[in-house]
Amino acid sequence: MDQNELKQLVGDEAVKHIKDGMIVGLGSGSTVKLMVDSLGKRVKNEQMNIVCASTSKRTAKQAQDLGIIVKPLDEIDQIDLTIDGADEISKDFDGIKGGGAALLWEKIVATNSKKDLWIVDESKMVDKLGKFPLPVEVIPFGSSHLFERFEKMGYKPTYRMNGDSMLRTDSDNYIIDLHLGEIDQPNELADQLSNMTGVVEHGLFLNIVNTVIVGTQHGIKTLS
Ligand code: 5RP
Repeated sequence: MDQNELKQLVGDEAVKHIKDGMIVGLGSGSTVKLMVDSLGKRVKNEQMNIVCASTSKRTAKQAQDLGIIVKPLDEIDQIDLTIDGADEISKDFDGIKGGGAALLWEKIVATNSKKDLWIVDESKMVDKLGKFPLPVEVIPFGSSHLFERFEKMGYKPTYRMNGDSMLRTDSDNYIIDLHLGEIDQPNELADQLSNMTGVVEHGLFLNIVNTVIVGTQHGIKTLS
């Protein structure tokens, strides 16, 4: 199976965790896109009554086009289950997210969910986080100074681009990717980044997820 087939497999499996009447958080990215397609079919075929909150404008539009009800997070009490992808996951379920620049809304939705489920193909499971560049969402104002601080700290920053322009997130911020190679102390790094003025959010998702569905060449593995 190629990577896309593995993503489809975990997307289909994740949808089985969604029950009628649930409030569901929808993640972002290519794996979630396949999951939402699959959810759209269930909602249509089974006349499922679910309400969703989305982690990006892109996912919200896809879901709505499929007839899935999407409400603003502020109109929702408590999300029952959020299903999202990830860029890297360590053995203790810490992760890097934000490859699709949606980390801020993803973290807000995830931390307002009773349960969080990540769906990934096996290439995302790692011994140590950090090979995938760590996305940091920053306020555009004065961001070049933050960028210089990251450089001095040895974090090898790059601005995320969209063609010739700086990429803008759904909250109109910039993304600075940190090319760290390996992250030895994720909790310390998360605290350090959170304490830097101008940083809105970082892509380290620590102690958030309860269950991971991994697509492997030998089938699906559900880890919890
Ligand atoms: C978007 C994300 C995605 O969940 C992550 O990048 C994984 O995406 P994909 O399923 O396309 O590999 O964090 O901000």
